[in-house]
Amino acid sequence: MSALAKAPDLEVREAVWNEFVAAVRASLTPATKFTERELLGPKTTMRVGGPARVYAEPASAGELQHLLVEARRRGLPVLMLGRGSNLVVPDAGVDGLVISLGHEHWQKFEPQPDGRIRVGAGLRLKNLCGLATKAGLKGFEFLEGIPGNVGGALRMNAGAMGGWMFDVVEEVQLMSFAGETRTMKKGEMHVDYRHCAELHAAVALGAVLRPAASAESTDIRRQIDVYQKKRVESQPREPSAGCIFKNPPGNSAGRLIDEAGLKGERVGDAEVSAVHANFIVNRGHATSADIIGLVRKVRARVKAAKGVDLEPEVLLFGQEWKDVL
Ligand code: EPU
Repeated sequence: MSALAKAPDLEVREAVWNEFVAAVRASLTPATKFTERELLGPKTTMRVGGPARVYAEPASAGELQHLLVEARRRGLPVLMLGRGSNLVVPDAGVDGLVISLGHEHWQKFEPQPDGRIRVGAGLRLKNLCGLATKAGLKGFEFLEGIPGNVGGALRMNAGAMGGWMFDVVEEVQLMSFAGETRTMKKGEMHVDYRHCAELHAAVALGAVLRPAASAESTDIRRQIDVYQKKRVESQPREPSAGCIFKNPPGNSAGRLIDEAGLKGERVGDAEVSAVHANFIVNRGHATSADIIGLVRKVRARVKAAKGVDLEPEVLLFGQEWKDVL
């Protein structure tokens, strides 16, 4: 076999992908984006990483279900992509169907007569805050600066400024990877710091949120400005994936990394931010290998200096950190 020939199992896999693409493409509407080898790096805030074997932005729940069912029938992995703000995409990309709810169908913001708000999973947190502020609905201010959408914030139970996503959630509509939809009350879900178990193998379609209270828009805006100021002062502006490690119980990953003397430490173009040590920033042309290398270095140094094992908070797309660290 020549060095360029593909191994037989890769050829079989490729044939399955080609058959999947042909079968699914024929039944999707033009409103659904459906591409092969779409680069994912530009869709992430870290701006690194290779392509998705297949990428889709379904324009309806029916088309999302069709994609999930057809991928599952062929044993093809499915990965959900939110706003890509808590993600490192491997340089080689992912051999999977990557689905994003980027189509406007998923961006609903619908205040209900009972005071609650129905939101789509594709709605950006920034827009959620803006619309809630305009409507005089208080309680979402802490989400404003998180560069995510509702689906990603549910999946990660994203948080900032002492609050987290599930503080404002009453129920979540989800679709399993088998294509079945259901609604779950918050109390039925297993939610923790940066974690929601039910969304590991399911897609959040939307949620019902409960505002804390009604308030004057100007008062809400004032609170958002306070949070924004704090964020601008304490977090870097270069491309990053937000905080790279979880805070260990009762401790601060940023402080531990800082005290271990790691600010400014680099692997390639990946650098421990001088502004906040729990951010790895991309200084221009970082690769995911650079970032993984720097994560490894930081963990080793913090372990040696402080005796603490730091666990990554960001997801490594399509892989497990334990397999690369
Ligand atoms: N600190 C240092 N050196 C640093 C960074 C921080 O000494 O380089 C100290 C600070 O002085 C402070 C403490 O560490 O005493 C905590 O820092 P900070 O207030 O910035 O909060 P954090 O725990 O590092 C958390 C979330 C952020 C969120 C902020 C603001 C995690 C891992 N991080 O950061 O969330 O924006 O609070 O509420 O939970 C994210 O999850 O991606 C994220 C950015």
